[in-house]
Amino acid sequence: MGVSEQVDLVLSGTKGKSGGVARVFLKGRPSRLLIVGADDKDADETTKVAAFRRDAKAMASAVAALDVADATVCLDDFDAGSADAYWKTRTMLAAVSHASYRFTPYKSTKAKDAKLRRVGMLSRQRAKTRRAVDHAQALDDGLALAKDLGNQPPNVCNPTFLARTARTLSRGAANVTTTVLDEKKMSELGMGAFLSVTRGSATPAKLIIVNYKGGNRGDKPVVLLGKGITFDTGGISIKPSASMEEMKWDMCGAASVLGAMRATVAAELPINLIVMAAAAENMPGGRASRPSDIVTTMSGKTVEIINTDAEGRLVLCDALTYAKRFKPAAVIDVATLTGAQVVALGSHASALYANDDGLADALASSGDGAGDRMWRMPLWDDYQNALDSGFADMKNVGGGRAAGSIVAACFLSRFAKDFPWAHLDIAGSAYVSGKGSTGRPLPALFEYLLKAASLGG
Ligand code: BES
Ligand code: MN
Ligand code: ZN
Repeated sequence: MGVSEQVDLVLSGTKGKSGGVARVFLKGRPSRLLIVGADDKDADETTKVAAFRRDAKAMASAVAALDVADATVCLDDFDAGSADAYWKTRTMLAAVSHASYRFTPYKSTKAKDAKLRRVGMLSRQRAKTRRAVDHAQALDDGLALAKDLGNQPPNVCNPTFLARTARTLSRGAANVTTTVLDEKKMSELGMGAFLSVTRGSATPAKLIIVNYKGGNRGDKPVVLLGKGITFDTGGISIKPSASMEEMKWDMCGAASVLGAMRATVAAELPINLIVMAAAAENMPGGRASRPSDIVTTMSGKTVEIINTDAEGRLVLCDALTYAKRFKPAAVIDVATLTGAQVVALGSHASALYANDDGLADALASSGDGAGDRMWRMPLWDDYQNALDSGFADMKNVGGGRAAGSIVAACFLSRFAKDFPWAHLDIAGSAYVSGKGSTGRPLPALFEYLLKAASLGG
């Protein structure tokens, strides 16, 4: 583009503030010049970083709204405090990825498809920018998969569809294998809690496992486990019909971990990663589980099902027990687990629980860096009593409306004693009602995996 010197120009279109965009129309190529934001040299570090994020968003939506297929971005002279070219490029391209995503397979007119096909980066910092572009591209591939899966309707995206999608991840990749456990296999393993959830459904449950060996033979794998309830009616404890359509997004945990696998394979990260998706549909019916049923989990512990709508923890507890066989470095489960998480944190942060402080800190800081925040919640013993049952080893719910997200996490913690474990309750962050999946917490997870591979920012 031939921008060789720094130009100091305040364009009225930017209104002199962060988030403002000025558009200049030129003859020839480039046909448009967009100037975004304004430096505030006196601002502190946090303000500069926040302003950069806002500018990146403004730039990305302005570019996505233009009728152009190609864009070039120069960020070298853009002040974002101490943030380097790698972080600035990642942040800008994440905003572009977000602004240009569309889900249109069921629209008979596709006019609204995003035009933007390619974004180039113009930078003097070649190595950092190159690495950032590669990572941003890999994450974008993963996010596209995660969002598409979430947005698919539940009559298409059922457990079988998720299993088929998982198989595509290992196609043509020698170091990736996909294994799908069917109901017969799960029953042999004694997964009575998992199987209790699918009893009312006509589509069989699947426990999907994708294994990526990008690291050394002896490196312990990170295990990511996603809740994959492809539709949650609540079962016999049926949900009210208002907003029930949102429960097609109850598999967003599974979608985000499958997306994490796609991103990891695309970036060829030198780590060992295992992704599991606990896929089932929660329906009422003549064979469905009843409140007061008692089931035996794979761990041997028994659970009294008080509420069939607390099904996520029932599929996840058996998957957590299964994960032990991988001798994991860490297990991170991701689930749209409770409405109470939405009450506590809204959409701005996912709820983070962990039995290991190092893991919790690493995840939280990955989320901060990726602009995909999580907030740590307590797992104190005081909350565990709510799960006491008079008839079995525990109930699947307890405590009424008090601390619902914490009590759910306490339930899971009982099955995660043998490894460093974190749980992300993403009920409020995974999707925007009426709009679509966000792909969260994949940006944070990918950042965490980059760090595990010693490749992060
Ligand atoms: N999938 C829901 C949680 C949910 C609610 C996700 C709203 C996204 C938005 C989960 O299976 C559920 O039904 N949880 C119950 C638990 C209760 C029965 C203890 C809930 O939150 O009401
Ligand atoms: Mn439910
Ligand atoms: Zn659910």
